[in-house]
Amino acid sequence: MPFDDIHVHQVMLADELRTRGYKTAINEIVQPGSTVLDFGCGTGILSFFAARAGAKIVYAVDKSRFIRVAKALSEKNGFSNIVFFHGDGDELNLPEEVDVIVSECMGNFAVDEWSLGSLFSLREKYLRTGGKVIPGRISIRAAMIGDKEIHNELSYFKTKPYGIDFSTIEDWPYYRCEGRRLTPSQVLSPASNMGDIDLHTCREVPGSYSGTCELEKESDVYGICAWFVARLTDNIVLDTGPLALKTHWNQMIFPLVEPLHVAANTQLKLTISLERDKKGKQTLWRWFVDDGSQVIKMDNFVSAAWVMRDLPIGELT
Ligand SMILES: C[S@@+](CC[C@H](N)C(=O)[O-])C[C@H]1O[C@@H](n2cnc3c(N)ncnc32)[C@H](O)[C@@H]1O
Repeated sequence: MPFDDIHVHQVMLADELRTRGYKTAINEIVQPGSTVLDFGCGTGILSFFAARAGAKIVYAVDKSRFIRVAKALSEKNGFSNIVFFHGDGDELNLPEEVDVIVSECMGNFAVDEWSLGSLFSLREKYLRTGGKVIPGRISIRAAMIGDKEIHNELSYFKTKPYGIDFSTIEDWPYYRCEGRRLTPSQVLSPASNMGDIDLHTCREVPGSYSGTCELEKESDVYGICAWFVARLTDNIVLDTGPLALKTHWNQMIFPLVEPLHVAANTQLKLTISLERDKKGKQTLWRWFVDDGSQVIKMDNFVSAAWVMRDLPIGELT
């Protein structure tokens, strides 16, 4: 995510379910006199909410240079108790413990922005015993995709467009995952819980998420759709799933290269795992579906051998 781009910040702030949800959560948790850490402050919006809720001091950190804007907005709006730190959360040195840590660093799959590890380190270092983290809990959910249209769209190269044989790459579009907004009719019920992360206690971000899903009807399955539900407080839940109200987050779709025909009441075991490549630039995903008789294994590395390796400039031999 390019967090130095004003458009990205506008999209996030204009997502009222997200931003008002955080505001309500901050008003519930931050008490007059609280000390607060805003990890990944962006425009500073969550720091401003915390200051308005009565925080004595707010420490706001962000590694993006956009934090200059946050500081300018803080001054413009007359906040005098927000201290800004430009830099990675891992390198932050605070003069004291805090009562509350607030953060919104979730990608479509929650953990795919790779910031939760730093949040956990900050919590261990700076959250006072009994202090609160917003969000307190994140759950990963998944459902099967039952819509053929997405599958057909991904089969483009199989149609031999312009009379060219693209069979070398025709399956590549299926070995890719991406964020899309799905409609309720595109997913099969029920959804499956793939794992929960308690942000007050978890020390290491899980790299693998699994669940089971028993489809109610006989179906053709075209892939997995996954999203997250964040419990900002015990009372405030932010659901980014296809059945919930629209937020700026998309669901992640993980296609299957061949549709899987599933009888009613078959149990499917789903696994989605992710890791960062060695340079920390790409997220490497794997997704598996096990219907009891076969395990379909997919990943997004298929094109990597072709496009990631160095290629000398000049005529190809
Ligand atoms: C999704 S934005 C949220 C911004 C703001 N809190 C809001 O709610 O509108 C996440 C922010 O976290 C920052 N960030 C992510 N990882 C970070 C890290 N390890 N250290 C410091 N800032 C980080 C990004 O630069 C980005 O500005």
